Amino acid sequence: MSTIAVVGAQWGDEGKGKVTDFLARDADIVVRYQGGNNAGHTVVADGQEFKLHLIPSGILYPEKMCLIGNGVVLDPEVFIREIDGLASRGINVDNLRISPRAHVIMPYHRKQDACDEESRGAKKIGTTGRGIGPAYADKISRTGIRMADLVDSESFKDSLKTALEAKNNLLKGVYGAEGSDFDEVYGTYSRFGERLSGFVADVSIILNEAIREGRNVLFEGAQGTLLDIDHGTYPYVTSSSPAAAGASLGSGVGPTRINKVIGVAKAYITRVGEGPFPTELNDGTGEKLRQRGHEFGTTTGRPRRCGWYDTVIARYAARINGLDYLAITKLDVMTGLERIKICTAYSYKGETLTEFPPTLKVLAGCEPVYEEMPGWTGDLTPARSFGDLPVNAQKYLNRISELSGVPVALIGVGPGREQTMVLNNLY
Ligand code: IMP
Repeated sequence: MSTIAVVGAQWGDEGKGKVTDFLARDADIVVRYQGGNNAGHTVVADGQEFKLHLIPSGILYPEKMCLIGNGVVLDPEVFIREIDGLASRGINVDNLRISPRAHVIMPYHRKQDACDEESRGAKKIGTTGRGIGPAYADKISRTGIRMADLVDSESFKDSLKTALEAKNNLLKGVYGAEGSDFDEVYGTYSRFGERLSGFVADVSIILNEAIREGRNVLFEGAQGTLLDIDHGTYPYVTSSSPAAAGASLGSGVGPTRINKVIGVAKAYITRVGEGPFPTELNDGTGEKLRQRGHEFGTTTGRPRRCGWYDTVIARYAARINGLDYLAITKLDVMTGLERIKICTAYSYKGETLTEFPPTLKVLAGCEPVYEEMPGWTGDLTPARSFGDLPVNAQKYLNRISELSGVPVALIGVGPGREQTMVLNNLY
């Protein structure tokens, strides 16, 4: 029996969807524990491309159970669109369940997200605009609407009345924006509730029973360590806990029940949205990585900022998440670069920092300290074992693993399921 958490070790978009999809083959259950449709996973299975935002990547295996934990914020409209889209392509969605404790993203959350961003002006976070932050803020303020409310028309009416009054005051009174009409929202969302009621089940009970029975469970993280509300580059973060500890809280499984934590990292690094990024490449190399790696957001289409692999960040991710292994993705994208740099430390006001700083003020002033290696040529996409890789690519992987302090278990050399090498078996 194995229970594995797959977490992003960078700023999100590390290729977790592909790694989860790969590991899902041997899992009985895949559960998402945080975030919402701000995430975007592209999975290629049997030559077909699937873009998933909310539904766990395991859905492409018909017999797996896929769960959405209490830590997720769920936009019912997006969820319905996603299940309908999958069903129309012949994917079975009957094994999908949503926690009654998951909070619902309402239309006023999306409006508030846009107004909040506009009011931040030059200090905007660059959110995905999906209402994620406001939905989590309401959860913490204890004014949120949960799935259990959405599927119970009386309870929904009551909680929506209270919530909408407050939101309309904020949107109209403070932001001068348009409010929402109760009857309209109630009508649309109670229909969503009716449609989704069959999916609602106690995810914590399902998971704990499965673990007791010795089944394999995969906890699928969204976003990444540096976007974690506690451990990320605050305030340029998302509003949930993508770090491994979030897997426990966001699914209702005790931390002692999670056996392994895998950190997914690209062979380089990317970031979307605002905020300091020490190894960012604002040059032809950055552009090459962006074009070759198709580094444009799955959710918003925004170009991703690209930079060299940063082992200060990798060591930080290893510490925060207790990483057992790394899964390194997109190694193939780096082919053809003459020289490759690895960031080993930061230089800040003449001082060498080997630990990731807690403030943006310091991070913004950090210059990367690099070690250089020669690059490699040749197409990596057909490689199926470590020995198939060019020697310089092998040396690069060994070096980043050594400097990150974590062994590599998986290597990705292309988007397909078969383009994944296993160095250490995880089950
Ligand atoms: P939010 O999650 O929409 O509130 O956005 C907050 C920050 O997290 C912004 O910088 C987003 O670009 C970033 N973010 C949210 N989801 C993802 C993701 O799945 N990948 C990468 N960045 C993300």
